[in-house]
Amino acid sequence: MASTTTPSSSLFAVFLLLLLLWGVSRHPSEAREPFACDPKDATTRNLPFCRVSLPIPERVKDLIGRLTLQEKVSLLVNNAAAVPRLSIKGYEWWSEALHGVSNVGPGTKFGGDFPGATSFPQVITTAASFNASLWEAIGRVVSDEARAMYNGGKSGLTYWSPNVNVFRDPRWGRGQETPGEDPVVVGTYAASYVRGLQGNDGNRLKVAACCKHFTAYDLDNWNGVDRFHFNAKVSKQDIEDTFDVPFKMCVKEGKVASVMCSYNQVNGVPTCADPNLLRKTVRGVWKLDGYIVSDCDSVGVYYDQQHYTSTAEEAAADAIKAGLDLDCGPFLAAHTEDAVKRRLLKETDINGALVNTLNVQMRLGMFDGEPSAHPFGNLGPKDVCTPAHQELAFEAAKQGIVLLKNRGPSLPLSARRHLTVAVIGPNSNVTDTMIGNYAGVACGYTSPLQGIGRYARTIHQQGCANVACAKDQLFGAAVDAARNADATVLVVGLDQSVEAEFRDRAGLLLPGRQQELVSKVAAASKGPTILVLMSGGPIDVAFAHNDPRISAIVWAGYPGQAGGAAIADILFGTSNPGGKLPMTWYPQEYLKNLPMTAMAMRPSQSNGYPGRSYRFYRGPVVYPFGHGMSYTKFVHTIARAPAVVAIPLDGRHARGNTTLSGKAIRVTHAKCNKISLGIDLQVKNTGSMDGSHTVLIFSSPPAGHWAPHKQLVAFEKIHVPARAQQPLRINIHVCKFLSVVDSSGIRRIPLGQHDLHVGDIKHSVSLQAATLGVIKS
Ligand SMILES: *[C@@H]1O[C@H](CO)[C@@H](O)[C@H](O)[C@H]1NC(C)=O
Ligand SMILES: *[C@@H]1O[C@H](CO)[C@@H](O)[C@H](O)[C@H]1NC(C)=O
Ligand SMILES: *[C@@H]1O[C@H](CO)[C@@H](O)[C@H](O)[C@H]1NC(C)=O
Repeated sequence: MASTTTPSSSLFAVFLLLLLLWGVSRHPSEAREPFACDPKDATTRNLPFCRVSLPIPERVKDLIGRLTLQEKVSLLVNNAAAVPRLSIKGYEWWSEALHGVSNVGPGTKFGGDFPGATSFPQVITTAASFNASLWEAIGRVVSDEARAMYNGGKSGLTYWSPNVNVFRDPRWGRGQETPGEDPVVVGTYAASYVRGLQGNDGNRLKVAACCKHFTAYDLDNWNGVDRFHFNAKVSKQDIEDTFDVPFKMCVKEGKVASVMCSYNQVNGVPTCADPNLLRKTVRGVWKLDGYIVSDCDSVGVYYDQQHYTSTAEEAAADAIKAGLDLDCGPFLAAHTEDAVKRRLLKETDINGALVNTLNVQMRLGMFDGEPSAHPFGNLGPKDVCTPAHQELAFEAAKQGIVLLKNRGPSLPLSARRHLTVAVIGPNSNVTDTMIGNYAGVACGYTSPLQGIGRYARTIHQQGCANVACAKDQLFGAAVDAARNADATVLVVGLDQSVEAEFRDRAGLLLPGRQQELVSKVAAASKGPTILVLMSGGPIDVAFAHNDPRISAIVWAGYPGQAGGAAIADILFGTSNPGGKLPMTWYPQEYLKNLPMTAMAMRPSQSNGYPGRSYRFYRGPVVYPFGHGMSYTKFVHTIARAPAVVAIPLDGRHARGNTTLSGKAIRVTHAKCNKISLGIDLQVKNTGSMDGSHTVLIFSSPPAGHWAPHKQLVAFEKIHVPARAQQPLRINIHVCKFLSVVDSSGIRRIPLGQHDLHVGDIKHSVSLQAATLGVIKS
């Protein structure tokens, strides 16, 4: 036996070497060392917290039991320290992936094998697709790229995205990051994108997402008020009815692994120090399975800038007692130990926070040893910026672009007749403008000029040096170009110098002299003039809508890395536009009686306050929420829908009269799973071009002082070929979507006639309490 040992073991060594080399070339990402529980480390590999076979809560408990107070405190911050004693490495919690892996946070760095990542359209554009499967598909791609970058040592696994604040005020610089003004659309986006990011593997997480900024947060810097000092005065009704809706959906339906509290105060209490918001609502009622993180330095901000507590230790103790688990910023690392020494906080309170953060790290597999053994451990540089990923970014832009006006119709252009196109405007050849804020480094760009260049000969003129457009020096050359081309495409609008984090807009008009450029060019154009707008927030372009020389208007939002290719495909009809506005386009005068600091959603007649969003504002608009045209025509008919829907009551409440107030049933007293409201529609494409169409169903509840005049209750996107008809079944969740919130913040289902609107058809359905007879006694 001994005689055969030597040759076979050396052969075995060669075999091992080959295996290793093969492994290295196959997994270039093996650069990353295990975060903890390295199987080669004899001191830890057998400890219970490293044992993959044990339930996670047990492993977490074991680990916490081994940590000293100082070690625990050092784990309460985004830049969590290493615990060398237990072979646990340091970890940077802060990464971002709003619409592609981003390098806004310190956790992600591009370079080396990872020069860039797929840059999807900004969220407001993607929202305009009203396509929930697209939102989830983008999340899947982004998390593939995120895992690949993590494996390569370039990124973390905890992403503080998406931003699900309702786009309350059109001036908000970060409205572009959100899915718009409708709470249900925002919540559906949140749940879909989070599912895409976090994956679908039970309790395990592909990456951990985070819904932010909780809550009633959507002001950056307006008229001397900034987000660090803003106290949002919000009614219980608006919180329940509007601001909390997306967060609740994100936690309950999206099962998000994290929620971030905001900088501002809500009704005098900083959100990160409010136990009612964090401990009671997010964790208690919605049952967050994950961690609550502060916005970056929120705790320091409420101590230093808001002077909410008199000592730093009280600020630290208040945060943790309120339910905060992780501080983005150094504050908790600096002051929590003293807070314990002063008996403002118990060590068990800190354990409670660590349970939540460590749980997420374990669900991510960070304590499972070798990262390459993880189900996504094989992802590497070859999985980033793949042709398929870039194609999805292109597809998302095409689905999100909105056709606002098409006179004649003049669109689509024809590559046969429009041989020469003048491409004019400050955004006509932009690249990084197209990805908006909270972006990363794109794989590559196609600018509008380049995109249009694929269809026609182009004559390019900037018209304005930049979006500020202070001077008219370049107008003459732009006018000449329009005079000499078969068609003119003006690409104008905004960029991050006008709307961004720290930067709210002052008004809604095009900046500087852009409007003048547009009108002068349109007046001189030989062919049709097409206005393409790039912006996150709405722009008052009533002048262009009313100008007959401007044939068509297209809103591209911030369309991402492939934006120019998508714009060109839409303009030349290779793609049929199907996007719809996820927010109201208000006229400039709307702002007259509307301080940005006023949070109320409902109008007030006494002071001329107009109210906010299509749900409550009834004045004139430039374009309404949901507006968006197509090159074809869609006709809806209702095939079947109930005229009466019974609302069965929970037995315990069938007799009392607390349930019925103003003829409305408390949602918590209704048997919601026994209620069904299904509508069968037929959607017909009567035109000659295939197209995708979003069916939006709005409901007008019975009149009452708390109800919005209408609200979106369902939406569904379908593809219908030319001259074809498709059936569409829509189920409306009555408790969630036909309910309204009373002035004490209680959600009730109003009884009586609800009018459902689908396009221009209307259907009335009467909601009736199933045990009304019993109650009448
Ligand atoms: C358009 O932008 C691209 C990419 O930034 C640049 O290479 C090109 O020179 C620009 N074209 C014109 C006509 O300015
Ligand atoms: C029922 O309503 C009446 C009138 O609003 C009120 O006075 C009474 O206390 C209520 N009864 C119960 C059991 O809540
Ligand atoms: C929604 O998006 C997905 C992913 O891009 C796409 O496959 C699907 O066709 C879209 N749905 C419609 C109706 O356009």
